[in-house]
Amino acid sequence: MIYCSPHAELGPSGVADSSRQKSLPGIFSRIAGTGSYLPEKILTNFDLEKMMETSDQWIRDRTGIERRHIAADGQTTVDMAERAARAALDAAGLAPGDVDFIAFGTTTPDMLFPNCGVLLQARLGCRGVPAFSVETACSGFMYALSIADKFVRAGEARRALAIGAETLSRIVDWNDRSTAVLFGDGAGAVVLEPADAPGILSTHLHADGTYKDLLYCGGGTDLSKTRRTIAMSGNEVFKIAVGTLCKAIKETLAANGLDRSAIDWLVPHQANLRIIQATARRLDLPMERVITTVQDHGNTSAASVPLALDAAVRSGKIKRGQLLVLEAFGGGFTWGSALVRY
Ligand code: COA
Repeated sequence: MIYCSPHAELGPSGVADSSRQKSLPGIFSRIAGTGSYLPEKILTNFDLEKMMETSDQWIRDRTGIERRHIAADGQTTVDMAERAARAALDAAGLAPGDVDFIAFGTTTPDMLFPNCGVLLQARLGCRGVPAFSVETACSGFMYALSIADKFVRAGEARRALAIGAETLSRIVDWNDRSTAVLFGDGAGAVVLEPADAPGILSTHLHADGTYKDLLYCGGGTDLSKTRRTIAMSGNEVFKIAVGTLCKAIKETLAANGLDRSAIDWLVPHQANLRIIQATARRLDLPMERVITTVQDHGNTSAASVPLALDAAVRSGKIKRGQLLVLEAFGGGFTWGSALVRY
């Protein structure tokens, strides 16, 4: 198989030679390594009991969450993403300088611009390569993964980082018990590389902006959106999330002509254990084949799927060659899924 680095694609004028790119043989992408990072500080449900009118029992019964990690003062989304990215590169046996593409899912960027992808690129020292962020809330990693996969398969990237990282503790209203107990901070990353056989078998992305008022956070340039912390209609989000995620998983399996029995692991968005259980139940998937980290991480939005994936890989649950379905759903609404041969 012939691989072409993006630099090798430049013609004499420095302009990318698209005819060469199109003549590339079929390239697949595979996950070469995973990594994650969680901040040191842990906030338990019992800690929350001291901060607001809530209880460990209520939080565990309604969400399955027991604890979440909270970024230290001054620690940013990119700080955490850098740790996750370096861990993923180590796992893949690669150096930061090998990275030639960065897609970064986050809704809690360090700055409005430069974007988090660019800030991470500077930290890693891979100057000149494309780097950007995707703000699709909890499905940010699924979007980043899908885009990175396409660039690798097109021969335009050889070592692509797909990241999900969030510092949600900075956009949570700590006086709103209905949302404050749900979220946590962290980062996850995967490195994709070209492969002869498909690792990422398919990705499926969707969005429906008509639901924009059910889950949102102001703070942008529309000054009429005065709420700068997470606002959510929990009940409605719950119901739509379950139905949508079931459809997304079915779509992923159907696109590959597979039955659910073919899946070794479902790696779902870790928003709420009840959402995960309801989705698994509707699909008749035993919970023994579902990765759950929500109890330890809370909802880390774009970071949740790569965090869960990395935890399961490092604990030895997920093994090379196994078939995974990844899925996430979030504000927008946006949602996405992927079938992955790890
Ligand atoms: N502690 C104790 N009581 C709480 C509470 C808390 N942290 N938060 C809300 N309550 C109370 C409410 O005030 C309400 O009290 P009332 O009956 O006296 O009015 C009661 O609990 C029930 O509230 P409700 O919002 O109906 O609870 P729920 O069963 O829907 O659970 C969520 C709330 C948020 C856990 C649930 O709706 C949910 O998980 N939604 C999806 C959230 C999500 O995952 N979003 C991200 C998707 S990406």
